[in-house]
Amino acid sequence: MEIPSDFSAASGSQVRREFGDYEGAGIAEYYDASYVVRQRSDLDFYTGCTARYGDPVLELGCGTGRVLLRLAQAGYRVTGIDLSERMLSRCREKLPDLPGEVRDRVRLVAGDMTAFDLKETFPLVIVPFRPFQHLLRTEDQLACLARVKRHLAPAGRLVFDLFQTDPRRMHDPCFLEEHPVPGEVTLPDGRKVRMAERTREYHRAIQCNDVELVYDVSFPDGRSERVVNPFRIRYFFRYEVEHLLARAGFRVAELFGDFSRGPLRDDSAEMIFVAAHAGSGG
Ligand SMILES: C[S@@+](CC[C@H](N)C(=O)[O-])C[C@H]1O[C@@H](n2cnc3c(N)ncnc32)[C@H](O)[C@@H]1O
Repeated sequence: MEIPSDFSAASGSQVRREFGDYEGAGIAEYYDASYVVRQRSDLDFYTGCTARYGDPVLELGCGTGRVLLRLAQAGYRVTGIDLSERMLSRCREKLPDLPGEVRDRVRLVAGDMTAFDLKETFPLVIVPFRPFQHLLRTEDQLACLARVKRHLAPAGRLVFDLFQTDPRRMHDPCFLEEHPVPGEVTLPDGRKVRMAERTREYHRAIQCNDVELVYDVSFPDGRSERVVNPFRIRYFFRYEVEHLLARAGFRVAELFGDFSRGPLRDDSAEMIFVAAHAGSGG
């Protein structure tokens, strides 16, 4: 991805421009602390799915273990796959603080969700907080679904969430401005982090936006730095996903618009798909 060169820093700050995706230090470092992540209300939903469909669970794009560790703490066995070593390292760093029996329920695998082979099937495969939207091309999305198909038990479920596309976020110039994310976070070492986001460029023909997450960090010794994480995100529409799932041999068993299992509505922020093997009952 082309890294923007004209991003202006808050005066007096060093600017650290990261690579796209999750291999920059910034996103892995501040992911758990960020308001956007902390205000997610999906943990009970994914725990409930596990109670319903059983374990072991396979989580694709497990990141820092936000969902995965919650499931392990609730007593479920869970395997997490992630492409980013940095995100997986953040997850591994949390393990020593957990009881041995919780750690024993966790398996972490460095890998690509479009090309993995664990030689095992799971009653539940989950993809929480939009990792599927990092699969930009249809062939990557189909490759991922083919991998899931192979790893999903006959009566199993694939559960994943996407944002419901707000049409304004396909073109409105107002999102090209930097928007502060509410709340300043203080890390245990005293660093204070403020976050902002903005869209860098719209690419409607390929249903992608180039976005930037911006972290303004103040150190206890008075230094400050700005970390910019650019990445490209794919946006989807409801019936496109239904067609994609059908093409990959799945059917939509349930569709929700929020994590309280409410229906998808015009103003729902989320699209949460529960998919089953096409032709399976229930
Ligand atoms: C928004 S985070 C979600 C993390 C976690 N599921 C959660 O709910 O907090 C997206 C994650 O997807 C991972 N990811 C992106 N593309 C991937 C791929 N092709 N294969 C595996 N992981 C991928 C990223 O490294 C990142 O950790």
